[in-house]
Amino acid sequence: MELLETLRADARLAEWLRGLASEGDLRVEAVLPDADELPDVLLDLSVPHEDINELVALRDRLGADEGAMTLLARCVARFVRDMGEIGKGWEPPPFPASAGALGRLFHVYVFLAALPYVRAHHRERGVPDEVSRRTLADLGRHMAVHRRRRGTGGLLFPWWIALHFHGELFQLGRLQFQRARLGQRTGGAIAATGAGPGPGDPCLSLHIPDFRGPLSPAACERSLALAREFFAEHYPEERYEIAVCHSWLLDPQLKRYLPADSNIIRFQDRFESAYEETTPDDGVPIGFVFGDPELPVEELPRRNSVERAVVDHLRAGGHWYGGHGWLAL
Ligand SMILES: CC(C)(COP(=O)(O)OP(=O)(O)OC[C@H]1O[C@@H](n2cnc3c(N)ncnc32)[C@H](O)[C@@H]1OP(=O)(O)O)[C@@H](O)C(=O)NCCC(=O)NCCS
Repeated sequence: MELLETLRADARLAEWLRGLASEGDLRVEAVLPDADELPDVLLDLSVPHEDINELVALRDRLGADEGAMTLLARCVARFVRDMGEIGKGWEPPPFPASAGALGRLFHVYVFLAALPYVRAHHRERGVPDEVSRRTLADLGRHMAVHRRRRGTGGLLFPWWIALHFHGELFQLGRLQFQRARLGQRTGGAIAATGAGPGPGDPCLSLHIPDFRGPLSPAACERSLALAREFFAEHYPEERYEIAVCHSWLLDPQLKRYLPADSNIIRFQDRFESAYEETTPDDGVPIGFVFGDPELPVEELPRRNSVERAVVDHLRAGGHWYGGHGWLAL
């Protein structure tokens, strides 16, 4: 079955396709690198070697599927329309397993076709090539995350890569920084301290990518210094005084298990707490520490201090919560 037919069989996706068609501006060009160029483009995006042959082979199948190519063009047009604007990117729905390999990899092709647009945005802003390259290489990292969890190429969270390919997020050393706005709760907590900014004001939302070695204090310092310089230079009209972080790494309960000089606790110590989370989310630490949020707690190994922390806490009946922190830049 062709891709579009499969997607239309799902009521929610059929609705999404109709919305996309009604907004569509097909004057935006959506061009994919040809099969000969594609491997180099993928390697520059850090796409794992294991995934390259499949992406090259499917590229021709995609090119021959007129419906899928129209969908690709509509997705790209929608995605690049507000390039660089915060919060106006793209939240594509996941495609069902019945959409096969093309469905599993479709969003990768959308990002490949959007590549010239995000690169142009980076150039317009004077973003150095190496920052651009390392930022967009998160595509490959996330394909590795997909492969670790599912054993195949793909993207578990296309909306996440959409941030990078929309000019909203940059990798600067160890950390990633997302141009964002303070929400009600975090912004309210900051305003209450008299620190200045409040809800709706610009902030940098900080993310800690996997597969990049330890989160040493020196690496964090360097990243924060790079961010101060980078955003002042390339987005001077947006004044970033605050960085926020929403992460399992900021759950204060970790202090009960990890030594004060561990990287995670030293990272926590940089932040003021904005508010306390009340909804448990055990899958997040399980996913980040063991690779899959669905793994049964009874079977998890306890090989190092973080593994022991996550497992012992859950086995004792506890839960993990995301922490919400902020710091003045
Ligand atoms: C954030 C991260 C780099 C911290 O690692 P770190 O710098 O080694 O942190 P610590 O010094 O506090 O680690 C203490 C111990 O736990 C281990 N550890 C830390 N994070 C681990 C992880 N995600 N998986 C397995 N083991 C981990 C370390 O190897 C170390 O072991 P040891 O004490 O037995 O030598 C690491 O957890 C990581 O890569 N996480 C994935 C990304 C992530 O969670 N991002 C946040 C998204 S919201």
